[in-house]
Amino acid sequence: MTQPSSHDPKQLRSYRWFGPDDMRSFGHRSRIKGMGVDDIDYQNRPVVAILNTWSELNTCHSHFRDRADEVRRGILQSGGFPVEVPVMSLGEMLMKPTTMLYRNLLAMEVEEVLRCHPIDAAVLMGGCDKTVPAMLMGAISADIPSIFLPAGPMLKGRWKNETLGSGSDVWKYWDERVAGNLCDQDWKGIENCIARSAGTCMTMGTASTMAAVTEAMGMSLVGAACVPAVFADHHRLATQTGRRAVDLAWENLKPSDILTRESIENGLMTSLAIGGSTNAIVHLIAIAGRLGIELTLDHFDELSRTTPVLGDIRPGGRFLMEDFYNAGGLPALLARLTDLLHTDCRTVGGVTLGEQIAGAEAIDDEVIRTRDNPVSPAGGTCLLKGNLAPNGCVIKSIAADPKLLTHRGPALVFDNYPEMKAKLHNPELDVTADSVLILRNAGPLGAPGFPEWGMLPIPKKLLQAGVRDMVRLSDARMSGTSYGTCVLHIAPESAAGGPLALVETGDSIEIDVPNRRIHWDVSDEEIDRRRQSKQLGTLLPERGYGHLYAKHVTQADRGCDFDFLEGRSPGQEPGIH
Ligand code: FES
Ligand code: MG
Repeated sequence: MTQPSSHDPKQLRSYRWFGPDDMRSFGHRSRIKGMGVDDIDYQNRPVVAILNTWSELNTCHSHFRDRADEVRRGILQSGGFPVEVPVMSLGEMLMKPTTMLYRNLLAMEVEEVLRCHPIDAAVLMGGCDKTVPAMLMGAISADIPSIFLPAGPMLKGRWKNETLGSGSDVWKYWDERVAGNLCDQDWKGIENCIARSAGTCMTMGTASTMAAVTEAMGMSLVGAACVPAVFADHHRLATQTGRRAVDLAWENLKPSDILTRESIENGLMTSLAIGGSTNAIVHLIAIAGRLGIELTLDHFDELSRTTPVLGDIRPGGRFLMEDFYNAGGLPALLARLTDLLHTDCRTVGGVTLGEQIAGAEAIDDEVIRTRDNPVSPAGGTCLLKGNLAPNGCVIKSIAADPKLLTHRGPALVFDNYPEMKAKLHNPELDVTADSVLILRNAGPLGAPGFPEWGMLPIPKKLLQAGVRDMVRLSDARMSGTSYGTCVLHIAPESAAGGPLALVETGDSIEIDVPNRRIHWDVSDEEIDRRRQSKQLGTLLPERGYGHLYAKHVTQADRGCDFDFLEGRSPGQEPGIH
């Protein structure tokens, strides 16, 4: 075992717990020893917390119980004292109504767990969608040296010699099932084959997007974002991350030293360049907010107009995360964007982003496109504005039918999700392929929790007629694995009194993505008349976390953080021991 280095242990934060010769410190030391720990194990060494979101109800993190041991090995190798600390797990597939309701709760837990304990550095073990922003937000607010270890994508799905992608192929084959084209046996076969291993969705969903964003912002080791969860490389990554966490403690390299407006912009450009999830926008605004950096949708729009999409990965492209990894992964993609990125930003690896990606080469130009042959020259995801979304809304244009990006049609409005579910597949439904499906009361307050309902299903009678995409509008989010012409995050949401609450079936709606416009063809007088005659708002939960959430959550364009958590935090542990 490495002996404590020449660094001064009195500089360590944990020394304030374990160092002094007083009664409280005696208590801290004696109770640590109650676990069988000896002086040599922890004294004068950085205490490195392994914040583990393992849970048997989060299948994406099912390898984390073992992987934590490999992080531990790395911490020991570098002379640290590892302590594993479980924190809330947000497993996308089993939580209702949505993990997004709980992102801020995990962020609060991470912040407070770090702040109140003798922790010198932390390894943040997350991966499944909201765990990534939640852990980063918490670590930023605690401002204790932290390094992120992504869960890694699962293996590619295989069924009848076809490659299956998480989420995306569920939507695709469910449409075929509703249309009557897929038998029970095949549907069961897909169920058995689509999730072949531990790990996160292996499409460019929110998990893969946020892992890439985290790496580009400098908060994980180089290449970490794409390593498949069950590859031997992922075991090694865990150990390397543990080793590096000890250095971070000695160097006292904190999130506030790494994350700046420039590194956030690197994250944003990366999410665009990989054709990433629309959810990244909401999360990045919230992450920036914790740093006291105001990031707006207009800022996102600016970058969207200049950032090419080079990652040809589903649902916006053709390949999956395993292919991306084999093609060179994120460093190879970023190396093709060095003229756009802020390459002098620092990273947890101790080098700049530019140094980190220098020399990274793409092995397959089909998966990682070249600059002169991009998936899209710019605008993979776009901000739209207009009288239906005064504070903006977004559309992932590369995952939409290009023919629908300019469209005008009559609205077909559903007041809420249960109403939509009850009516959508009714053969009598008055709908055509030109209709604009609208779902409201599906935003941060209305649902509540801002669920992934924004890829409204295509009505059965249209599916049977061969329709596979149409224009859909909502104040909801959609899964990063979803696709289609879905306008999302309409702000303000209907439950907060946004204009979406006043749309009626039959109103004419126009979207014009090339001109970044959404228009509701109803006069201002008529809008005023409807506003006078309609009772707006929603019933909010009266108790518990739901109450706290409803009172303090911000709208989509502000990142949906709690208003009282925005801005820089003093970051210190309570002063009285
Ligand atoms: Fe966990 Fe997709 S369900 S990453
Ligand atoms: Mg998802």
